Parts: sequence; structure tokens; C-alpha cells
Amino acid sequence: MTVTDHGREVLNFYAGPTALPWTVRAQISRDIVDFHGSGMGVMEISHRYVPPAAAVRPRPGARYLHLVTNNTVEGTQFRALPRVGVPLVADMSSDLMTDGFDAAGCDLAYAHAQKNIGIAGVTIVLIRKSMLGKIVARPGELPAILDYRTHVSHRSNYHTPPTFAIYVTWLMLGWIEEEMGGLAALGRVNRRKAATLYDLLDASPFYRGLAERDSRSVTNVTFALPTARLHEQFLEEAGKAGFVGLAGHRSAGGCRASLFNGVTQDMADRLTGFMAAFEQRNQTREHRDQEGSSDE
Ligand SMILES: Cc1ncc(COP(=O)(O)O)c(C=O)c1O
Repeated sequence: MTVTDHGREVLNFYAGPTALPWTVRAQISRDIVDFHGSGMGVMEISHRYVPPAAAVRPRPGARYLHLVTNNTVEGTQFRALPRVGVPLVADMSSDLMTDGFDAAGCDLAYAHAQKNIGIAGVTIVLIRKSMLGKIVARPGELPAILDYRTHVSHRSNYHTPPTFAIYVTWLMLGWIEEEMGGLAALGRVNRRKAATLYDLLDASPFYRGLAERDSRSVTNVTFALPTARLHEQFLEEAGKAGFVGLAGHRSAGGCRASLFNGVTQDMADRLTGFMAAFEQRNQTREHRDQEGSSDE
């Protein structure tokens, strides 16, 4: 959460780029001017210096199966990775490093950093060595930069990478390990944040959760208000109260609260507090409206 120069509180629920932990942002602000006492700003330093950082079936004859482990738009997530008998390639852009995961079930996983692991500019790729031998393109048939073999043989230093974005990822990994107590502990925190929202949706006759219960995402909670008018009013009042980024994806509509690693339990509690109060006020008003119209 942030207090702006104008003293206004902002609680960032955007779907990415999105909230970073406060301590990571504070460290960035120090390191921009002087990176760990080096006398150089982090953007001035060479990259050589930066620390290393079930129902799914493939088509017959498929060489691999690609899936998205967490659907950021709909707010759905695979509970477990399917075992499909062909290599599994997973876009984990919205849930890698939010909890432990079944790495053994994955042959290639990738995730951009700007949701849970830093800022835009970095994509993390995990590739099984055996997969490298399955690449059918001969050297030179693929542009070198698009060929994973290039990046493996150059130890991810083939070209000048976005050093600042990698530096923020490094800070995020340290934050996960040292401040959050590791991935399993972080997973518990993230599941509790999500449960805070889902419990409210389940108990409410006013809000409607949009994802099926068994497929609910831990990182993106999607829901709808009873009417279009209440939807608009909800977003407007939420904005005034400092909650930003709650509109659903343009292709899905409704509302969405994204609870990525940088979003705290306190922020989730305050959002549910706001939602409960909004429901209370507007249920009563709707009720009055209905009574008013029946009098006519
Ligand atoms: C799961 C997932 N994959 C891919 C993307 C697209 O990412 P990029 O804009 O980095 O290509 C998004 C967008 O937010 C996403 O949520």
C-alpha cells in the first residue's frame, strides 16, 4: 500500500504490472542512487556484475501440450498439472513463485516477472535439459535470440539483458526467502489472502464469484455485482476509497481483485471490509428502491 505525495492512500489491485512489496520498493529507491555501497547506481552497473540469479488431452500426434496454469482473465487455476504423455509446456506468468509447484510434471515453464517476481522486462524460463535435444530446428534455422539453446550455452548472458529488471527479480527472490520464509510459507499467505475474498463471496447474496469453486485462482479473484449500475458505483466508490485496479479484464467484464505476491493480507482484509460495507449500504438501498417501485 502507498501514501502518495498528496497524502492519498492507494491500494494496488492491478493485474500486472502491479504491487511490489514495500521493502523491495524501499530497497530499489536506495539502490538507484548507490548500489550496496559501490558508489554506482544499479542502472550504471554491468550485467556481468549482477548476481545469478485431468481433463486435458493432447491431440493425437501432438508433439507437446501448452497450457496456462493460471488464467489471469477468468480467475481460474489448475490445482494440479495434468500428466498427458507428451511434453508439457506451461505459461506460469501469473502463478510461478506464488507457491510450491509440481516441477516434475513440467518440461518447460515460463513466466514474465511483472506479476509475482519483479517488474516487466524479464521472463524466467525453466527448461528440462532433455527438451533441448528435442528441438528440431538445426542451428541457424531459428534466430539465435529465439533459440533456447543459445541462452543455455551462454548461461543467460547472450545479449545485454535488462539489468534493472533482473536486479528487482533478485530482490524479490530474496524477499520470498528471507522475509516470507520461503515458497511454502508464501503459498500459505497467498492462499489465506484468497480465502479472505472467497469467504466473503460465498457468504454474500449480493456479490457473485465468477469462477467455478474447484477451479478458483489464488491470485485473481473474479466477481460480479448484481446490476450494471452497482458495478459502476462500486468501482467509483472503491477508487475514491483508494482501491485501484478492480475492474475486470475487458474481455470478461465484472470485477477482479489480483492478489499477487506484493499484495498483503491487510490489503485483502481492507478490501473485504470495503466490499462488506458497500453491500450493506446498497442492499438496503436496493431494497428501498424495490419497495418504492411496488408502491407506484
Ligand atoms: C498468464 C499470462 N500469460 C501471458 C500474459 C501476457 O504477458 P506479456 O504481456 O508479458 O506477453 C499475461 C498477461 O498479463 C498472463 O496473465
